[in-house]
Amino acid sequence: DRPSFSDLKNAIRTIPDHPAPGILFRDITTLLGDARAFRRAVDELVQPFAGLKIAKIAGIEARGFILGGAVAHQLSAGFVPVRKKGKLPFQTVSMPYSLEYGSDEIEVHKDAVSPGERVLLVDDLVATGGTAEAAVKLLSSLGAEVVAACFIVDLPDLGGADKVRRLGVPVRTLVSFEGH
Ligand code: PRP
Ligand code: MG
Repeated sequence: DRPSFSDLKNAIRTIPDHPAPGILFRDITTLLGDARAFRRAVDELVQPFAGLKIAKIAGIEARGFILGGAVAHQLSAGFVPVRKKGKLPFQTVSMPYSLEYGSDEIEVHKDAVSPGERVLLVDDLVATGGTAEAAVKLLSSLGAEVVAACFIVDLPDLGGADKVRRLGVPVRTLVSFEGH
């Protein structure tokens, strides 16, 4: 048998008070290390998108790279790294986003996607949605059509999935943790 979604949820480890007191950290490394759960998570992430002619997967550094590469292979799509500022060697476009404390910036190569190209955004988790929103804006600014965004984990109390939906981008998540 293959694990169900509740098994996917059970494969995620929760670490209390990390990285700060009161935070429950949802650690996907245990899911990634479980061969059946990892395969199942990738299969379920791609399920609605097979046949939708996705040209490229955009994966967000760092945890989105792990899933994004597997998803790209599964959909026979290309892979575009959305990186933290200062890592990419060629000409880039960048987009700032806010964090709980302060802000950061993500970048893509300016030739990473072509106008009209159909792109699926992939990351491990959506919390406030700030990172995903910045990625959608970045890819859209290059003319890509962001067909959807998918994540293994949703923290619905933080409203990030809805924030991405308000940009007109459908969101798929597999498991959610209420009360984050
Ligand atoms: C985490 C997670 C998502 C993002 C979600 O990444 O992997 O990318 O935060 O948060 P948000 O919805 O509030 O923007 P993090 O920035 O911790 O870095 P990492 O993936 O490199 O570990
Ligand atoms: Mg991340």
